[in-house]
Amino acid sequence: MCGIVGILGKTSTDVANALVTGLKRLEYRGYDSAGMALLSQGSFHRHRASGKLVNLEALQAEVPLVGNVGIAHTRWATHGIPNETNAHPHMTERVAIVHNGIIENHEEFRPALLSAGVQFKSETDTEVILHLVDQALMQGLAPVDAVRKTLEKIKGAYALALLFREHPDVMIGARHGPPLAVGYGQDEMYLGSDATALAHLTHRLSYLEDGDIVVLTSRSVETLRLSGERVQRPVREHRVSQTIADKGAFAHFMAKEIHEQPETIRQTLGTYLNDAKSGLQHPDLPFSWHDTPRVTIVACGTSYYAGLVAKYWFESIARLPVEIDIASEFRYRTPPLPKDGVAIFISQSGETADTLAAQAYAKAQGQHCLAIVNVPESSLARAADCVFMTYAGTEIGVASTKAFTTQLSVLAVLAIAAAQARQTISQGDFQNFCKALAQLPALMDEVLICEQECREIAYQLTKAHDILYLGRGTSYAIAMEGALKLKEISYIHAEGYAAGELKHGPIALIDDAVPVIAIAPSDALFEKTASNVQEVIARKGQVILISDEEGHKKFSHPHIRRLVLPSTSSCCILSPVLYSVPVQLLAYYTALIKGTDVDQPRNLAKSVTVE
Ligand code: M6R
Repeated sequence: MCGIVGILGKTSTDVANALVTGLKRLEYRGYDSAGMALLSQGSFHRHRASGKLVNLEALQAEVPLVGNVGIAHTRWATHGIPNETNAHPHMTERVAIVHNGIIENHEEFRPALLSAGVQFKSETDTEVILHLVDQALMQGLAPVDAVRKTLEKIKGAYALALLFREHPDVMIGARHGPPLAVGYGQDEMYLGSDATALAHLTHRLSYLEDGDIVVLTSRSVETLRLSGERVQRPVREHRVSQTIADKGAFAHFMAKEIHEQPETIRQTLGTYLNDAKSGLQHPDLPFSWHDTPRVTIVACGTSYYAGLVAKYWFESIARLPVEIDIASEFRYRTPPLPKDGVAIFISQSGETADTLAAQAYAKAQGQHCLAIVNVPESSLARAADCVFMTYAGTEIGVASTKAFTTQLSVLAVLAIAAAQARQTISQGDFQNFCKALAQLPALMDEVLICEQECREIAYQLTKAHDILYLGRGTSYAIAMEGALKLKEISYIHAEGYAAGELKHGPIALIDDAVPVIAIAPSDALFEKTASNVQEVIARKGQVILISDEEGHKKFSHPHIRRLVLPSTSSCCILSPVLYSVPVQLLAYYTALIKGTDVDQPRNLAKSVTVE
């Protein structure tokens, strides 16, 4: 989390403004405080502000900072509360620093630094790096040696940018974990957390590898390893859009992104379905589905729920055993992985620290690593053996919507491809699956008609303290996704349960104040879920049943609130994608009515680059 921008500019550039523009593009990484420091006339000048970036912009408008060299930061707090004092950059007279990551052994150095007379001004782990570098500079070390000496001692994750008062034409970057890109301009050099942060300045970028330190001057780049060995990182063109996304006619990015889903699914499936929509086309696979003994799927949050849906698909259609785990657990439980196994990593950002570590583990275990990502130049994509892109476009809302349904679309393609390769479905079934996928964009348009009804139901939800979501099969995953969506943006406690688990404990929660949202397309498991809904009604729970006409005909009750979706009975792949929409809309309108910050909910960040 946290975003970094650094500019080693020419006198002509409005560096302060360019830094703020970079931060605007990085606000998705954290938005609890922001700051920037410029080096001019032999000293650092700094603005820092708690809260959103607009507060920093207001400071800059009031007292403009000038200079042609600067670093800036948008923060997601780890060590120390989100206030101005803990906001980056941190600086001494000699050095200024911005940091993304966590230094795990920072406590180790504090006693010695305190006895050397250091006065810590913040509660951050970053300030320890600052003073270690500062002390090394005072001992007469050159900037690069001071940074190297410091980084040799510290443990943890970092992307860093540093400036030095005595060396106004030097900016140093370092990476261990969170990504850091070097941007190449005309007699200017930049550092940024990603390509988007620098898109207004340059498209020519190189990415640092873990353990790299880069020393920039306005005309030179030198990359070294911690050992001092010189290395070169390839410079490539990264064409990301310069425009900062706008909300169009919508009140929030989340609403816009929900409505974009028919189009983003069309774009995504357009890449993987052939022109006749009766077959698949996709990147070459570095493995054979036929020889694969098992698939391992690893991801976090919403991306994990996409993987959970896919587990049902791979197992039922392709008859392939699937193990699935959340990345933060998978990476530390040293699971044995089979020879010729395929490991699928799903991530919107491609920068989620735990998912990256899980992929590194699977690679070391000899798995074929396939990444499903929305950002082509992301760390996950770069480290994978094979990449399947989602074409969701930039997702700004912290609550993932269009990324989720495009992930499901890609996973469906993979499950169908695996089934065809393993001959677990007939050619006719294969074509029917492809045709069903091709219908998805139009069906998504149809589902969006339920928006007004979701809005009305949301009034009921805002009054609740606890909400349960129930489902079976792939709808169980959508139940958990619905609960996650609701809690992250409305701050109402919600849980998703397998409907059959209800009587094993959670049913104790049910009374007339608890809404229960049942996700139940009329499939083979409908009657089972309906029985569980009966149990809720018997205990006076407020049931909202999301089903199709057929389901509502089979099961109705005066105490049930109905939400009717198009029929998905023709293909098991359709329902999880379509039923994602009402749970997104319910969360959106509940948050809207409650007046919470829909696009940037408290305590969260879009990209989770720390573990
Ligand atoms: O970028 P990723 O897909 O790897 O992110 C994983 C989760 O952090 C993310 O899905 C998170 O759960 C969303 N905010 C949920 O809406």
